[in-house]
Amino acid sequence: MSVVPASPSALGTRPASVSEAPAIELTGVHQVYGSGDGTVHALRGIDLEVPAGQYVAVMGPSGSGKSTLMNILGCLDIPSHGTYRLGGTDVGALGDDDLARIRNRSLGFVFQSFNLIQRMTAVSNVSLPMAYAAVPRAERIERALAALARVGLHDRADHVPQALSGGQQQRVAIARALVMEPTVVLADEPTGNLDSTSTGEVLDLLDSLADEGRTIVVITHEDDVAARAGRVLTIADGQITTDTMEARHASH
Ligand SMILES: Nc1ncnc2c1ncn2[C@@H]1O[C@H](COP(=O)(O)OP(=O)(O)OP(=O)(O)O)[C@@H](O)[C@H]1O
Ligand SMILES: [Mg+2]
Repeated sequence: MSVVPASPSALGTRPASVSEAPAIELTGVHQVYGSGDGTVHALRGIDLEVPAGQYVAVMGPSGSGKSTLMNILGCLDIPSHGTYRLGGTDVGALGDDDLARIRNRSLGFVFQSFNLIQRMTAVSNVSLPMAYAAVPRAERIERALAALARVGLHDRADHVPQALSGGQQQRVAIARALVMEPTVVLADEPTGNLDSTSTGEVLDLLDSLADEGRTIVVITHEDDVAARAGRVLTIADGQITTDTMEARHASH
């Protein structure tokens, strides 16, 4: 059995940032939805530091606050209280344009339901983040095809999502997530709709993104998904209840 370093970032190919800021830093984060009788206190004081290059799994029962946390990490929501620093930047201090730019340039998203645009081909779906970033069309297509090749779908570039299997659709979504070379990849139940073969393929791709030094946060209910991560957090009732560092899965 090989010895695995506690910090996978030590193996990353991505140079450490000059400031050495953690990839993710949450301090005293609360999230409150609604008001009056309908108030839901979805997060109750989250403190979390994720070094650059770490692969983190988040587990916990339904309704515990996992997706709420993910929406904050993804700059889709701003916490009601507390601060979120992404790569050292205080996200709460940014305006909408800067938030959109961070989502586009620094973050890659993978969802349980794939979230592909049904009337667009695989290559067009993968090209979209580059269109938002005003990358020239020829370069967009070249990079989208390279990203599809990376996930083993070069020969499906012209297929629309409904002509692809669930596992293939998720691989297109991963190609879309990686095409802007994000430093952080956020995945909310990425294998929740997949069979075991497709699950294995998606997990291998997430492993390869981690091996490149990207920071990965994956929400999952499945132990074999969490087993790929170097660190496993559990959340219950809006609070982190356990935080365990683990060796990467023995087969990887
Ligand atoms: N937009 C919202 N408005 C009001 N309440 C919300 C909203 N989003 C989430 N909640 C509530 O916040 C709590 C946490 O929800 P969240 O979606 O984060 O749970 P989860 O851990 O992701 O659950 P699951 O495993 O079922 O996906 C729940 O009680 C939920 O009903
Ligand atoms: Mg959820």
